[in-house]
Amino acid sequence: MCGITGYLGYRSAIQISIANLKRLEYRGYDSAGLAYMYNGKLQVLKAEGRIANLEQLTQQPPQEVGMAIAHTRWATHGPPCTANSHPHADCSGDIAVVHNGIIENYALLQTRLTEAGHTFQSETDTETIAHLIEEAMSLMPDADFAEQVRTALKHIEGSYAIAVLCKKYPDTIFVARQDSPLIIGHGEQETLIASDIPAVMQYTRRVTVLQDGDCAIITPQSVVITNHAGEIQNRTAMYVDWDDQSAEKGGFEHFMLKEIHEGPRTMRDTLRGRMSEAGTISLPDLPLTNAQWASYRNVTIIGCGTAYHAGFAARRMLEQLLQRQVDVQVASEFRYSSPILNQESLVILISQSGETADTLAAMRLAKQKGAATLGVVNVVGSSLAREADMRLITQAGPEIGVASTKAYLAQVAALQLLGLHMAASAHAPTAMLQQQMSSALPMLPALLERCLTLEPQVKELAAHLAHCSCFFFLGRGYDYATALEAALKLKEISYIHAEAYPAGEMKHGPLALVEPGVATVGLCTQKNLRDKMISNLKEVKARGGTVLVLQRETDVQPDCADYLLTLPDAPDFLMPIIAMLPLQLLAYHVALQRGCAIDQPRNLAKSVTVE
Ligand code: AGP
Repeated sequence: MCGITGYLGYRSAIQISIANLKRLEYRGYDSAGLAYMYNGKLQVLKAEGRIANLEQLTQQPPQEVGMAIAHTRWATHGPPCTANSHPHADCSGDIAVVHNGIIENYALLQTRLTEAGHTFQSETDTETIAHLIEEAMSLMPDADFAEQVRTALKHIEGSYAIAVLCKKYPDTIFVARQDSPLIIGHGEQETLIASDIPAVMQYTRRVTVLQDGDCAIITPQSVVITNHAGEIQNRTAMYVDWDDQSAEKGGFEHFMLKEIHEGPRTMRDTLRGRMSEAGTISLPDLPLTNAQWASYRNVTIIGCGTAYHAGFAARRMLEQLLQRQVDVQVASEFRYSSPILNQESLVILISQSGETADTLAAMRLAKQKGAATLGVVNVVGSSLAREADMRLITQAGPEIGVASTKAYLAQVAALQLLGLHMAASAHAPTAMLQQQMSSALPMLPALLERCLTLEPQVKELAAHLAHCSCFFFLGRGYDYATALEAALKLKEISYIHAEAYPAGEMKHGPLALVEPGVATVGLCTQKNLRDKMISNLKEVKARGGTVLVLQRETDVQPDCADYLLTLPDAPDFLMPIIAMLPLQLLAYHVALQRGCAIDQPRNLAKSVTVE
């Protein structure tokens, strides 16, 4: 996954494809590659690291090359290295594919294709596409290129945006999209392709956004878009009038907002291929036997900041699923403690970047003590992903905003998957809960879509609350974990003092701070704790505080609420994910009202690689 570019026209395709890749550089990547036709042969160049390394391989690009495809990779399957970077080729080296997305059934396909005599050069899911096309071409030699590729794609389950070159069709690029963005830019006698609009804006502002199920054959003469059955699809090109800066952010004002809006898609990617329709969890990256899973008598979750909160949000659910005590610790404290760990301990380390110094130190200490370590991590090639005994990739894609948003949602969902997997493998006596959770988790993407529709309302709330001098976020049970993360989000980007409390603690001190001008966000999403929450919020209201209540759409409005935000109804254990998205939006819009530097909050860095 990361960036795709391509060019077909009268200018140097190599230079333009590379230049356009650079326009997607802000998304982060670990390697880059390029394919083009030259002297009747398909050429593939790849380099680990910066695009400049790839550029060096094309010091004097042949000017007469008028067609190329290129890619920046952000590893999802297989570590970052030259062999795993795109384009990937078939056995003959005549077909080259670049791909964004995840092929869910790649392991099965790889086994079948290997048995049929294909040889794989990489550890990626993408390479299966090149071999499937090769297979389709040999099985249906009389079909045209588009039909051959469409036939190959029928075997694929998962998401993809692909671009394909083939030696046999030297003036054609095939592209297709399913659940991963891909656009076609229409210039004067030239056509560009890209995974994102900013990549082509220097050359054209006339753009067709492909829809799921679209395939297209691009030649110097035409662009023909069809569905998988080969039926022509009429798509209208749009005119893009964004400036360069907002283009990078997909038209959003900030990366943070873009990433909040990526929440539903993130959730699809995190769950993709890991749950069967029957609710069985499959995490092939965690190759333990049932006996090994059952042998872990104690579980500790460790992280920093948002990642720590994700652990906190998942803790109760893990305890209930596993019927074991689960400890959650801040990495910077854990690393200087004398933890009681042994071979019956499992230590789960959560990190978006996989490079947080304290989290890495905690992992090394846990290993020293004989515990098994499992990284729940977003960046595949990171230190945590490499050094932990096992890894579960959260699949949130690159996160650029310093304030973590989509990564948090992915972390909590990944921990829920992990909990289900562990409970089933260890034969925990919680079959009913496991069943209930497995049937609820697939609803998350759609529920998050609904949360996004709350944005106009959240924006209005932010206008009312942005002047408040101090915020309390109160919750009980799962809602307390959400409160912790919501307070962090608000403080880090709006610079308003914000504190989270378990609601029952207010009377033990913090209530003294409540006065007019102090806002309290009361999370009331937990069915059995709602009445207690309302009583606590009444106490806040009675002291002149402003109260915003978040509750399910099925609940009646409590009279202590000055403002109300109603959330889609779902089981309690999903509410930490569902309630978080509107609270991320709230933090964003409050910060916007206050004119703060949202994507680069003062004093903070995206990745804290020093102690
Ligand atoms: C939250 O918005 C912050 N960016 C921060 O708390 C972050 O979650 C923390 O530094 C941990 O980072 P990691 O997930 O990359 O380890």
